[in-house]
Amino acid sequence: MIKKVVIPAAGLGTRFLPITKSLAKEMLPIIDKPNLQYLLEEAKAAGIDEVILIVSKTKQEIKDYFSHNLDLENKLLSLKKEDDYKLIFEIGEFIKVTFVFQKEPLGLGHAILCAKDAVAGEDFAIMLGDDLVASKNPAILQLIKEYERLNASVIGVQKVAKEVTNRYGVVDIKEQLNSRLIEAKGFVEKPKVEDAPSCYAMVGRYVFKNSIFEELENLKPGKGGEYQLTDAMASLLNKEKVYAYDFEGRRYDIGSKEGYLEAIVDFALERDDLKEKMKEILKTRI
Ligand code: G1P
Repeated sequence: MIKKVVIPAAGLGTRFLPITKSLAKEMLPIIDKPNLQYLLEEAKAAGIDEVILIVSKTKQEIKDYFSHNLDLENKLLSLKKEDDYKLIFEIGEFIKVTFVFQKEPLGLGHAILCAKDAVAGEDFAIMLGDDLVASKNPAILQLIKEYERLNASVIGVQKVAKEVTNRYGVVDIKEQLNSRLIEAKGFVEKPKVEDAPSCYAMVGRYVFKNSIFEELENLKPGKGGEYQLTDAMASLLNKEKVYAYDFEGRRYDIGSKEGYLEAIVDFALERDDLKEKMKEILKTRI
């Protein structure tokens, strides 16, 4: 059973300046909820009950968001605004949040290694905040099911255009086991387009056996001089099988301004209270 998810939130958000100068990029709103809440809803729907957030500094706004705000709760109660009260009360009760500090920005592999003690010997999931996935069947749950069936680490992938493979960790295929499942023989972090071993890119969802920590502990700096999770996965393959799963769902790269805009439009079109208005806005503007 996967009960814990690690979410690295120590990045500086340099693709989203100036707002990320003072606001954690995990708190950027997709309409009226911070993007981190969508991730946690996906985790909760998959039966996960603890999130381990890797942070670089206090990120007080994240702590505040997931704590009770008694003044606001009492005010809403006295105004008899029960729906609003419930909405904010539940955020404080939603999921157990543990903070872990990454003292230096040494890469994704290093960030995950910082969570070792908090993960406490269990197998665990990772979700990356730049990747928001809209799917009736939560993306991380799809991977957890495969992990349970195979008793092995399973990495979430989606097919991308060959020209953009250099932006991702890419899977080298050993065997295509069915239309969604691949046994991997290698993983390469941000290869040159001409060297990409496939078009299956890792897109921010992972389920790992605890044995990944041993590989992370022995990592050498990789691409960009950083400790890369992808390199730890490649060395794990020398000891055990690792699978890639092409999960169902629409993925948004909300770490980029284009992907963020696209997510807001699509999420509004999915909401009963906003879809007609959003359609009207789009029609009148184009
Ligand atoms: C990270 C990973 C990369 C993965 C990507 C998905 O890269 O290192 O393997 O494909 O996330 O979003 P980043 O985009 O943080 O540089």
